[in-house]
Amino acid sequence: MVDEMHPDEPGSSGDQDLLHGLSDLLDRRCGIAATVYASAAAMPGATHRHRGPAAFAITVAAVTSSRTLSRPRRAMSTTSPVNKRRLIQDHVAGKSFVDIGGLWGTKGEMVTTAAAGGAERLMMADIQAPGNTWWQKFEARCAEKGVDNCEQLQVDICAPDAPSRLGQFDVVHCAGVMYHVADLFQFVGNLVSVTREHLVLSSVVMPDEIQGPAGALSFGPDHAYLAPVLSEQNRNVVLGHLRAHDLKAAGLTDSAAYFDQGRTRFGPWWWLFSGTFMSALVRLHGLDVIAEGPSRGGHAYTVFAKVAADTHRA
Ligand SMILES: C[S@@+](CC[C@H](N)C(=O)[O-])C[C@H]1O[C@@H](n2cnc3c(N)ncnc32)[C@H](O)[C@@H]1O
Repeated sequence: MVDEMHPDEPGSSGDQDLLHGLSDLLDRRCGIAATVYASAAAMPGATHRHRGPAAFAITVAAVTSSRTLSRPRRAMSTTSPVNKRRLIQDHVAGKSFVDIGGLWGTKGEMVTTAAAGGAERLMMADIQAPGNTWWQKFEARCAEKGVDNCEQLQVDICAPDAPSRLGQFDVVHCAGVMYHVADLFQFVGNLVSVTREHLVLSSVVMPDEIQGPAGALSFGPDHAYLAPVLSEQNRNVVLGHLRAHDLKAAGLTDSAAYFDQGRTRFGPWWWLFSGTFMSALVRLHGLDVIAEGPSRGGHAYTVFAKVAADTHRA
């Protein structure tokens, strides 16, 4: 498989830790639940782009008394950077957890994170052939971290029978898959079907707007671009952005087959979308988004969503 960048860095950057630390401090010491933003212009809208610590100004916004909020904290939707590992650990104690598409690269897997958070049941579910090198590397990592109770399932999350094969899990994590799949509705729909409580969805995203010598292109909450049919003009704008950030994208910066005997293939970049599009799609499927934001470097985005009372109702 060809991939281009890691969609979510393990752990948090120093900047994210600083922001979360400040948020925690305000909560614990002052009884204030606050969204803490870092931006050069001290504007929440500027937080999608990561800036160096020297350029940071800190903005505290959306302040309410946390004593009126029930746990977990940050029950409001926010676009400050998301510390995914911490979110998972905060919500998984005594719960069942599955990482869908967690194998490739190994370091992005969240099974061992969920184990550290006290998850009761663990599963890795991936399309990779059982026993291949990625499963072996994952098993070695589990052994290294002292995790000996992880179930394994080979599954295509876009297949119609994926929900029945997986069953439901309290917490579902899926990262680095969304922009590679052709059928976004089958993909998100199946993830929602197998989620009993919380879904943690991460993907590489485009900024809300890109600009370069070839022109500008905006990525709003109401649209995504289908990469293989981009107009020449828009393709050049996208290529300029990817190259400026030293990003490789199968199908765009490198040639890749999108179809195999008339069927869509996983692997190339199918869709180009922003983080706000991701969260709009998750809301459209009936989930409440309770936190969302960029990962380190700003090229990936995480949506943390909760199944609503009527999400699974027919
Ligand atoms: C880019 S990697 C992301 C790995 C990891 N989640 C991370 O963030 O580093 C994509 C992973 O999804 C798996 N995958 C691809 N298509 C899949 C599908 N249809 N169903 C389940 N897993 C899939 C691949 O085998 C691979 O392990």
